[in-house]
Amino acid sequence: MAAQKNRLKIRALVAGNWKMNGSKKDLSELRKLATAMKPTKSGGQVKAEVMICPPATLLPRMADVKAKGIALGGQDCHANINGAHTGDISAEMLKEAGAKAVIIGHSERRADHNESDKIVRAKVEAAHRAGLMAIMCIGESLKQRKAGETLKVVQGQLRGSLPDGCTAKNTVIAYEPVWAIGSGLTPSVEQVGEVHTALRKALMRRFGDEGAKTRILYGGSVKPANAEELMAVPHVNGALVGGASLKAQDFYGILKAYL
Ligand code: 13P
Repeated sequence: MAAQKNRLKIRALVAGNWKMNGSKKDLSELRKLATAMKPTKSGGQVKAEVMICPPATLLPRMADVKAKGIALGGQDCHANINGAHTGDISAEMLKEAGAKAVIIGHSERRADHNESDKIVRAKVEAAHRAGLMAIMCIGESLKQRKAGETLKVVQGQLRGSLPDGCTAKNTVIAYEPVWAIGSGLTPSVEQVGEVHTALRKALMRRFGDEGAKTRILYGGSVKPANAEELMAVPHVNGALVGGASLKAQDFYGILKAYL
């Protein structure tokens, strides 16, 4: 498959971000996904690491399902370990609930909760402290893209949102153009390639060999129909998937790019 070229160097990660969706009945989707992923003689085995990031309420329940080959992640964490922060959840709590990773700095949190690069950086540090892999999100708005500011914006977010000490194991970058999220629109493969190549260079400049190995995911309207093409772009090491991760059948359709 076309995604193979990228896969040879770095093991891809395909993570599903359920956002504020899902209830008890949707645990069946996790079971269905695990069944679909079972290697068959004809179907082969998904070579990418697979993860679902459900709302925090479902995390321990999903951990109990013990779906083979599917890791779990949170969607946000507080920077502190504990304390008087009503409604917040610490990275340590997510870990205890069964998470291996946590999404941090998603554009919806940057917009809805005014999360600055500085706040995002503190949360990435918290994830590392707890032993979680931080999936740190960046991406330009449509206005910024139209103004030709895309590279400047994402490089600035990358610089400001990552603490020192990031490694390929404890950090994943997700490039999600804000205008592509939930819109059905995607950048061209050339546009994706341009951003991912610039991010790779910036990661290598700052983190050396670790930066060379750090996974850079693409996110924004990834679907079964476009996954193969997007995952084959140089320096695209997987996907962060929203809507199409809610149903096992659609998500598996995306994972097929890594069969
Ligand atoms: P969609 O795949 O629904 O566009 O969402 C992308 C996203 O925001 C994943 O974090």
